[in-house]
Amino acid sequence: MSNTIGIDKIAFYTPDYYVDMVELAEARGIDPNKYTIGLQQDLMAVIPVWEDIVTMGANAAQQIIDDADRSLIDQVIFATESSFDYSKSAATYIHRLLDIQPQAASFEVKQACYAGTAGLMMAVNYVRLNPNRRALVITSDIARYGLESSGEPTQGAGAVAMIISNQPRILAIEEETFKYSTEHYDFWRPSHSPVALVDGHFSNELYMDSFVKVFQDAEEAMGRRLATISAFVFHLPYTKMAKKALDALSEAETQLDEKKRSSQIAHWQDQLPAAIEYGRRIGNTYTAALYISFISMLKENETLKAGDRIGLFSYGSGAVSELFFGELVEGYSGQLAETIGLEELANRQQISVAEYEQLFTERDQMDTTNASFDIPETYQGFYLREIDENRRYYDFK
Ligand code: HMG
Repeated sequence: MSNTIGIDKIAFYTPDYYVDMVELAEARGIDPNKYTIGLQQDLMAVIPVWEDIVTMGANAAQQIIDDADRSLIDQVIFATESSFDYSKSAATYIHRLLDIQPQAASFEVKQACYAGTAGLMMAVNYVRLNPNRRALVITSDIARYGLESSGEPTQGAGAVAMIISNQPRILAIEEETFKYSTEHYDFWRPSHSPVALVDGHFSNELYMDSFVKVFQDAEEAMGRRLATISAFVFHLPYTKMAKKALDALSEAETQLDEKKRSSQIAHWQDQLPAAIEYGRRIGNTYTAALYISFISMLKENETLKAGDRIGLFSYGSGAVSELFFGELVEGYSGQLAETIGLEELANRQQISVAEYEQLFTERDQMDTTNASFDIPETYQGFYLREIDENRRYYDFK
C-alpha cells in the first residue's frame, strides 16, 4: 500500500465581479478601516445569477483536468454548504460536464466549511486503498449573510478543484491528522433560509479555541517535529482570522518553552501575508477558503521550497476542525504555473455597491423552478443556461 498520497493538481475559480470594500463601508456608513484593517478584506467577489456552485466548481476543475484524469478518477466528491437540492448532488453535474469515466462514484459532503477537508480526507483514503486510481475533490460556495448585516463584509464566492493521486506533484499529505468536534450554534443555515445565521463574536472564539485544541493535540503527538513546520494556512472567513488564531496560540499553554514558542509563532505570522493575498481580494468562500489560501501561499511565498512542511487548519462551524500536515513536493511551483493567480484577479470587473445589491437581490428573487439567463458576450466558461421545471441545464462557452 502506497503511503505517499496527496494533492497532484489544484486550481481555484472566482466570478468576474467584485465590489470594493472601501465603497461598501462608505455605503454602510462604516469607517473603511474596519473592513480593510479590522477584517483585512480589500475586495469581495460577487456572483451573478447565471453562475452557481456547479459552474464555479467546473470552472476550477477545467483548469487542471486532462484525459488521463478523466479515465482514472473514481470519486467525484463535492463539498458545499450552498447546495440547491436536498437529493441530487452537485457532483453528478460535475461528473457529466467534465466527462469523467462512468464507473465513478459522485456525491456531496456537508459540514460547513470543514466539508472540503472531509472530502479531501475521503479522497486520500480512497487512493490509499486504490493506489493507481485518482479522486477529484471540489469545494464550492457562495457566502451570504444578507445586505447590511454584520456578516456582509465577510461574504464572497469561489471554488477549488483538487486531483488526489499516489504520485502527488504538489503536497504529500501526512497520515496523522488532529480532529475536534464540539456541538454549538456559532454559524448555521436552516434549510428555509437563503442566508446564514451567525453569532459572529462567538464564532471567532470557537474558531480560535478549536485551533489551539488541535495544535496542542498535534504537539503532544509530534513533539519537536511540530517546530519544523515552515508555514501554516488557515480557513479564512476573513483574512485577519489567521493572525487571530496564531495570537490565540501565543496565549495558550504549549510544550515549547516560551522563548522558542514566541519566535516560532512570529515566524508563522511572517508567512501569513502571502497566504492571505487571494482571500483579501475574494472574501469568504466557505469550503474553498482554506484551499484558496493554500494556493495563494504556494504562488506568492517565494521563500518556500520543496521539502518544507506545511500545516493546514480547517474549521467548519457547528463545529468541526482538523489540523493536518503535508510536505511540498519537488517541482510544485511548476505544477501551479498555469492556474489562476493575482493577474487574473486584477482583471476582474469592479461593480458598484448598487449593482452588487441588485445581483444579491436577484438571486433571492430568482424563480428556481423556471428561468433562463442572458449571458454577457464576454463571459467564458461553464454557465447555467436555464432552469426548466426544476431541472438545471448547464453549458460551456
Ligand atoms: P463586527 O461586530 O461587525 O466587527 O463583527 P468587530 O467590532 O468585531 O470588528 C471587527 C474587527 O475590526 C475587530 O478586530 C475590530 O477591533 C476592528 P479584532 O479585535 O477582532 O482583531 N475594527 C477596526 N480596525 C481598524 N479601524 C477601525 C475599526 N473598527 C473595528 N475603525 C464579524 C465582525 C467577523 C464577527 C462579523 O463580520 C461576522 O459575524 N462575520 C461572519 C462570521 C465569521 O466570519 N466568523 C468567523 C469565525 S467562524 C468561521 O470561520 C466559519 C464560517 O466560515 C462558516 C462555516 O464554517 O461554514 C463563518
